Amino acid sequence: MTTLDHMMAHLRNYFMHGNIEDPMAEARILVGGIMGLTRTDFITKAEDHIPLEHEIAIHDAAGRRVRGEPVYRILGKRGFYGLELKISDETLDPRPDTEVLVDLVLDLLEGRRNESLDILDLGIGTGAVCLVLLSELPNARGTGTDLAQGALDTAAGNAALNGLASRFGTVRSNWFADLSGRYDVIVSNPPYIRSDVIPTLDREVREHDPMLALDGGTDGLDAYRAIAKGAARFLKPAGLIAVETGFDQKDSVRNIFEQAGFDAVAAAKDYAGNDRAQAFKIKN
Ligand SMILES: C[S@@+](CC[C@H](N)C(=O)[O-])C[C@H]1O[C@@H](n2cnc3c(N)ncnc32)[C@H](O)[C@@H]1O
Repeated sequence: MTTLDHMMAHLRNYFMHGNIEDPMAEARILVGGIMGLTRTDFITKAEDHIPLEHEIAIHDAAGRRVRGEPVYRILGKRGFYGLELKISDETLDPRPDTEVLVDLVLDLLEGRRNESLDILDLGIGTGAVCLVLLSELPNARGTGTDLAQGALDTAAGNAALNGLASRFGTVRSNWFADLSGRYDVIVSNPPYIRSDVIPTLDREVREHDPMLALDGGTDGLDAYRAIAKGAARFLKPAGLIAVETGFDQKDSVRNIFEQAGFDAVAAAKDYAGNDRAQAFKIKN
């Protein structure tokens, strides 16, 4: 039997030699996720012995991590904007940067937070964006679409896990192809990486995030063209559409939406200071 403190020292060493970028942080996420520990527990329970089944699970998980599997994939779940979300083979592991898109939409809806808004999330993945919006907007209803059935199933499961199932539904659709109705808010974090950049991505991304969630076509902008082309028919007249973009895509994405009949209304940067999200409305 080993204590929590000893296990953490061992993992830090093991991860350091395994070339993990931030060994202590990842050790804490892994052990915390497996044992259900808070940050404070790592101090107050440092001398506690780790139950054998947890010790075995931690050793197994640490081996997978050093062999290149991302920490949240190993845990099969992650926290996102206060929600716990399960991750599956057909979903992107949601990134903290995507919280910038959520914040942009919430800022633009200030004053309308109690309205019964209809929200459409194109490319739902785990449900990250739409489910956080539903948790922050108590009377809103959300529809999540995706091409990947596994993503739709995971998002529906995450809605149930977070008590949001009664206000959330899914539709399998190639962007707008199989949708109907009109929405107050459309959001999307579509695949936006240029096809030729994919082979240069970190192994952890390339080998573990689904290609459908990453590949944005030759110039990375295929999804924005499809979404901008279809959006006006699915938005209510004063509706809002907001998208996440790659750090160097702000101008190209704005041009695509302007040419499709939209005005840019707001934009936001991520925590590293890169352009990350933009919102548009139909031109008057
Ligand atoms: C970058 S991921 C974003 C997932 C999630 N919204 C998030 O922010 O974590 C893009 C999502 O779009 C989906 N997708 C890709 N092409 C699509 C298409 N033609 N129609 C609908 N969804 C698509 C992918 O399966 C993936 O779930």
